[in-house]
Amino acid sequence: MRSRATIQYALPSRILHWLMAAMVVVQLFIAAVMMASLAYYPLLLAIHKPLGIVILIFIVFRIGNLFLHRPPPAMSTMGPWERRFAKGSEILLYALLLIQPLIGWAMLSAAGGPLTIGPVQLPPIAPEQVGLFGLLRIFHSVAAYLLFLTFTAHLCAVLFHTVVLRDGLLSRMAPWTRRLTSGESDFTSSADSNPQPVTEGRGVSD
Ligand code: HEM
Repeated sequence: MRSRATIQYALPSRILHWLMAAMVVVQLFIAAVMMASLAYYPLLLAIHKPLGIVILIFIVFRIGNLFLHRPPPAMSTMGPWERRFAKGSEILLYALLLIQPLIGWAMLSAAGGPLTIGPVQLPPIAPEQVGLFGLLRIFHSVAAYLLFLTFTAHLCAVLFHTVVLRDGLLSRMAPWTRRLTSGESDFTSSADSNPQPVTEGRGVSD
């Protein structure tokens, strides 16, 4: 009998996933408008910096959460290459979401500006140097483009599975708890402590 752990991500993983997805979309949008509009630059930067620090805090929680809740096994509709590609892009997303806010913070430290989030003043994490600021500024742009591309590829893959293959991939990460069908249990049996790849095929929907 398959347990919930083999068909859906754990609830904390799903909550963190959707909160972070929303924050990253908003952050990229704010950054793009901020760089295009002089009038709104100060206001948008004042949102961009604390939001980036919140994303940093969330990704640290999310990495910790990986050790607490293992993801369900890959679906049978994914071939070996797609599984490798999916794993690689997830690792890249995690790495970028950790590195990008740190680059932003280090960039401000190199510029000599204090980083104040509400009543809290964060310490500098890089020496005050104009040359270093220039370099980190370039890295911040490159990481943002990479993040955008990886995020878009991830989104396209999920859309392909959901709309074309219709294999129920999205329901594994749905914020709501998936209804169990016969042959599925809410409890993890001893056989599920080492879950095998799920053999879900076309037409599994919720
Ligand atoms: C996931 C988090 C973050 C993302 C996705 C992100 C993304 C971006 C993007 C796309 C830009 C515009 C780059 C360009 O036009 O070349 C930008 C600019 C900027 N970011 Fe971030 N950022 C993040 C976190 C942070 C953090 C934590 C800070 C500082 C605490 C920060 C500080 C800045 C500053 C100061 C600029 C404007 C630089 C300028 O005016 O030249 N960012 N960010």
